[in-house]
Amino acid sequence: MTTIDGPTEIPRTYYRDGRVLDEELHRVFGANWIFVGHESEVPAPGDYVTRRLGGDPVILARAEEGVQVMLNSCTHRGTQVCKASYGNTTTFRCGYHGWVFGNDGTLRGVPGRRALYGPDFDLAGRGLRRARVQTLHGFVFATWRDDGPSLEDYLGDFRWYLDALFDFFPGGMEVHAGVHRVDVRGNWKIHAENFSGDGYHLRVAHRTMFELGVMGTQAGAVEGFAVNEPHGHALRSQYLIDAQVPDSVFGYEEDLLEAALKRADPQHRKFRERATVIHGLVFPNLLFITTAPVSYGDDAQGQTAFTQIRALTPIDQHTHEVAYWNLVPRDASDTWKSRSYLFATRQHGASSFFEADDLENFRRIDAALGTVAGAQAPYTYELGAGVSTRYTPPWQGPGRLVPQDFTEANQRNFVSRYLDLMEGTR
Ligand code: FES
Ligand SMILES: [Fe+2]
Repeated sequence: MTTIDGPTEIPRTYYRDGRVLDEELHRVFGANWIFVGHESEVPAPGDYVTRRLGGDPVILARAEEGVQVMLNSCTHRGTQVCKASYGNTTTFRCGYHGWVFGNDGTLRGVPGRRALYGPDFDLAGRGLRRARVQTLHGFVFATWRDDGPSLEDYLGDFRWYLDALFDFFPGGMEVHAGVHRVDVRGNWKIHAENFSGDGYHLRVAHRTMFELGVMGTQAGAVEGFAVNEPHGHALRSQYLIDAQVPDSVFGYEEDLLEAALKRADPQHRKFRERATVIHGLVFPNLLFITTAPVSYGDDAQGQTAFTQIRALTPIDQHTHEVAYWNLVPRDASDTWKSRSYLFATRQHGASSFFEADDLENFRRIDAALGTVAGAQAPYTYELGAGVSTRYTPPWQGPGRLVPQDFTEANQRNFVSRYLDLMEGTR
């Protein structure tokens, strides 16, 4: 069945077949805007971090003309020119035969150049391949496609939500305490779909956490909704129904919040007010979650708001790398930043209780992919299709709104976009 959001099932082959992954690396990761890092990770000239853009190792560097993303592969015989995870340098020297590249990718020197290569050997045109780069609110996106849409067009209506979340504080946001990277079992799409809006699993997969009171006590009854956009981007958000308890749940330092609210678009403000959690996906692999301190149990001391972003990079069809960053308002106090980081790490970090539950389910999905019967069964996404809705969000924004918390509309949207790319229809 196909709904307005997309199909209600997809063959499991897409989660277990190495040939599918090869196609994905070309058609999904190789042909779209992919998040590679945050500008605040490379604040000074010469700063760099190494990442992967789908299947390709890349260097994100702050060169003289600004942030660059280039293939971390020597143009001589392909060796990685940078082995470190991060650092500061003006040049990268290949460890095999010693070619030297600037941090903008240009080839600067070749040992024995005149004597060994002759007078006609030109350095120009032999630099590291540079990706097309565009940034939004400090997020650095790159693509190998020179002829594709702009980042703006790629984000479409979803830009409104990214503005509301990441362009809220006058001084912007920055990465606090670097990046955590772990390899986990399970196809990358399982994780992407989960984050795009799986409200359905919370009370089952994370039940123990709620029962133990680790989350504290919810400040009131909640209701939620999903939003999706045809490029595959989507989010889910959950709201306190009673506006009086408390009126706003932002959870930032007072001065900072006041300054943010003063400049905020009124609908952006409504979108964020009373939201206990907002999480989602920028297609295909950038995830985000922001939560507010709305729980008041004994264990809830020191809670703050926090914002975490994640990037998923496939390793093979059964495994992916997750990178986690904590974003904080640049102008928050150091004490607040540390507290937010602590809370984010405890609740949603690589070794957190939420993550333990989710990763166990991702592993079990992978373990049950099967070869014959297992592989022939589909994954299904029928939740909420054809059910009448009841929640009216307190704000107005663009995109396809699905006013119910328990729906697989965003997963259907993900599958729709994914299959379009894989089948080459756009
Ligand atoms: S492979 Fe880099 S210099 Fe030869
Ligand atoms: Fe979860």
